[in-house]
Amino acid sequence: MRALANDTLLRALARQPTEHTPIWLMRQAGRYLPEYHAVRERAGSFVALAKTPALAAEATLQPLERFPLDAAIVFSDILTLPDAMGLGLGISEGEGPRLERPLRDEAAVRRLAAPDPARELSYVLEAVREARRALAGKVPLIGFAGSPYTLACYMVEGSGSDDWPTLKAMLYGRPELLHRILEVNARAVADLLNAQIEAGAQAVMIFDTWGGTLSAAGYEEFSLAYSRKVLAALSKESEGRRVPSILFTRGGGNWLEPIAASGCDAVGLDSATDLDAARRRIGHKVALQGNLDPAVLLAPPQRVREEARRVLDAFGNSPGHVFNLGHGVSPRASIEAVAALVDEVRAYSRKLRERAA
Ligand code: CP3
Repeated sequence: MRALANDTLLRALARQPTEHTPIWLMRQAGRYLPEYHAVRERAGSFVALAKTPALAAEATLQPLERFPLDAAIVFSDILTLPDAMGLGLGISEGEGPRLERPLRDEAAVRRLAAPDPARELSYVLEAVREARRALAGKVPLIGFAGSPYTLACYMVEGSGSDDWPTLKAMLYGRPELLHRILEVNARAVADLLNAQIEAGAQAVMIFDTWGGTLSAAGYEEFSLAYSRKVLAALSKESEGRRVPSILFTRGGGNWLEPIAASGCDAVGLDSATDLDAARRRIGHKVALQGNLDPAVLLAPPQRVREEARRVLDAFGNSPGHVFNLGHGVSPRASIEAVAALVDEVRAYSRKLRERAA
């Protein structure tokens, strides 16, 4: 086991005490950073950046050079998996991602198969290996994938949507087709995450960005049931250490208890659920990750510091909290705001521990 200079993330995910509350941010590498625009320019496009391991590793490390974050997340995208399944990924600036060949008929669904990550997604695994080398044990590296359901949303709809009409038409009209897609996705996501772990990812996160758009019954049947399958199939250990898993569900506040019982080590929370309420509902069985409103990063640094303290106070002084936003960093977030946030989380969480000692 290679030692990590800063393993607060892994200890917090294991609900062990830490000197400060670890912090990292969803989309910490991204458009709010001028150096991200520069590296994307060099790659030619977002998709080319994600597919060029040396540049993806560079983007992975960019936020850590500015802020003392406690984790890195490999620079990639959840849609590389549908791309590897033959659906064709394109991203137009300002319009978001698009799949060129969405699953629109039964024949396409029947043909769908889980790709071999070593062959079809070797660039993701190479980005993990390069980022691990570049990090040199400074902080842990997080690998990730979309949830089977969130991937299916894009695979059927073809692009992002607020209400996913094509997907919902299939869900209610031809549920057996959607189940077949989800079955393949669960296998594909587990294979990809395990390959990332083998390549050096020290924790993994499943992004269920769209699970919250389902009905209560639909969430269990089409989302959580398949995330559970992924979690059950994950490698639990690597390099002599547990590889913890985080399940983030945007809009999942109504289902915290079943999410906490899904087999994950930590529940990722959006900003709609208070951390103390979440803790009272699910106790200390799993760690919690979240959940500052990303919009706070549009405010002046002083307000950012106040709101950061509010989140830390809501969780209280016990182990098992990883500070994050409730969703990704906005392209309009200011660098001063992010700097103030990271600084305040460190300083104030230390103070909370001293006060309790
Ligand atoms: O720093 C990190 O967090 C790692 C990189 C990362 C990206 N996408 C890079 C990215 C991660 C973890 C993701 C996950 C992802 N991708 C999710 C789940 C998390 C979430 O945000 O809900 C989803 C739904 C996607 C699909 C996706 N990719 C969307 C909806 C978009 C467009 C929205 C946007 O922010 O532009 C993307 C593009 C994307 N993925 C960008 C980045 C940095 C912006 C691309 C660019 O214009 O340069």
